Amino acid sequence: MIRIAIDGPGGAGKSSLAKAVAARLGIVYVDTGALYRTIGVYMLSKGISTSDESMVVAALPDVHLEMKFENGKQIILLNGNEVGEEIRTPEASMAASAVSAIGAVRDFLLSTQRSIAESNSVIMDGRDIGTVILPYAEVKIFLTASPEARAKRRFEELTAKGIDTTYEKVYSEMQERDKNDSSRAIAPCVPAADAIMLDNSALTAEGTVNAVLDIINKVRKNRKKRGSALYVFLKTLISPFYKFFGRVHVIGKENIPKEGGVIIACNHIGISDIFLLSSTFPRQLHYLSKKEWFSVPVLKHLIRLLGAIPLDRGGKDIGALKNAIDSIKAGKQIAIFPQGHRYPGVDPSETSVKNGVSLIAYKAHADVIPVCIRTDGVKYKFLRKIDVIVGKPIKYAELGFLNGGSEEYKQATAKIFSEICTLGGYGKALPEAKGDAE
Ligand code: DC
Repeated sequence: MIRIAIDGPGGAGKSSLAKAVAARLGIVYVDTGALYRTIGVYMLSKGISTSDESMVVAALPDVHLEMKFENGKQIILLNGNEVGEEIRTPEASMAASAVSAIGAVRDFLLSTQRSIAESNSVIMDGRDIGTVILPYAEVKIFLTASPEARAKRRFEELTAKGIDTTYEKVYSEMQERDKNDSSRAIAPCVPAADAIMLDNSALTAEGTVNAVLDIINKVRKNRKKRGSALYVFLKTLISPFYKFFGRVHVIGKENIPKEGGVIIACNHIGISDIFLLSSTFPRQLHYLSKKEWFSVPVLKHLIRLLGAIPLDRGGKDIGALKNAIDSIKAGKQIAIFPQGHRYPGVDPSETSVKNGVSLIAYKAHADVIPVCIRTDGVKYKFLRKIDVIVGKPIKYAELGFLNGGSEEYKQATAKIFSEICTLGGYGKALPEAKGDAE
């Protein structure tokens, strides 16, 4: 799955760009402006002034919107009737801009927009997609162009549709809409901190599509990357050792994600865990490692090259959490041991766990892959059989987050860790291990 957010002012060419990219990638194009336009047009049809916030809010319960996709085309049903070109007039544009500044209208449309991206690869265009609707989008582009270039495009678009207007009128309406959209208090049209800025004043439509496809390809490559050269080299050295001497069985290989940012959550038996996991997962795993390792002369360079993230275990390490969240958003896999310490010789279901794993999942909007490492006992011994059991991904939506916070993190961590223990049969009799020899 990939989610692409295209934000920017009107007339920058977001919708034709998004349509073309969606067709090339075979993903769903969501035009969120059409939702605001539909609400604006509905209010006008009922004689409600779109600048009268209380009247607009009072009429919202009578609006039933549905969004469908047929052959890649977005269809909006307003109270059961399909909306058409009536939402594309200059009056509809101004009405949309006015209702979009009302918080209750934005809240009303939030879940419609988000739920499409939960189960589909999407390219969504709007004003607040990268900042509010899909803050976890893998690709965020803020598309802009000079006001003159945008007004010229809009003018040509409208006259081609037979709408009678002038360039000067389009230009001044656009200035007014830009001001409304970017200065409003709620979800203003501003680039997300991690958005890529693209000014297409001097680009053709095809040139803009190619520039965006290039950006997407780079991100996709990163998401599938098997790791740095050093990581792959060390892994090649280590893996045969486990294969021939470790008697390692990997169970549930089909649950290993091939691309994208994700959290691998595993029980912690010993230092060998990181080598075992790295030899099991085809793509590079990034670990949160004790800060102290980063001051040991040679080692500090080595672990940095291996993509380790320094963690201060003494207190709340905001920097490490932010680093882990950004890495997941950039498409990397982060391995976390929720127990926080190694527990050799202890049944994991009898140990305590820390909530960092779910806090990171919440902030990065990430799925979690539960993994259980199990030995004949619960301690590594030379030539003992080891199972690495990879569970089905626990989807972000299954973690029960509403607004975050310690109680939600506690519940989510308990769910993740109980899956890990269940995979290994801990807390019950240990089932017989089976699976491919690795
Ligand atoms: O992209 P558009 O011109 O169809 O958008 C119509 C109006 O809706 C625009 O003035 C701003 C508003 N809008 C918004 O506030 N947030 C979005 N995600 C999409 C559009």
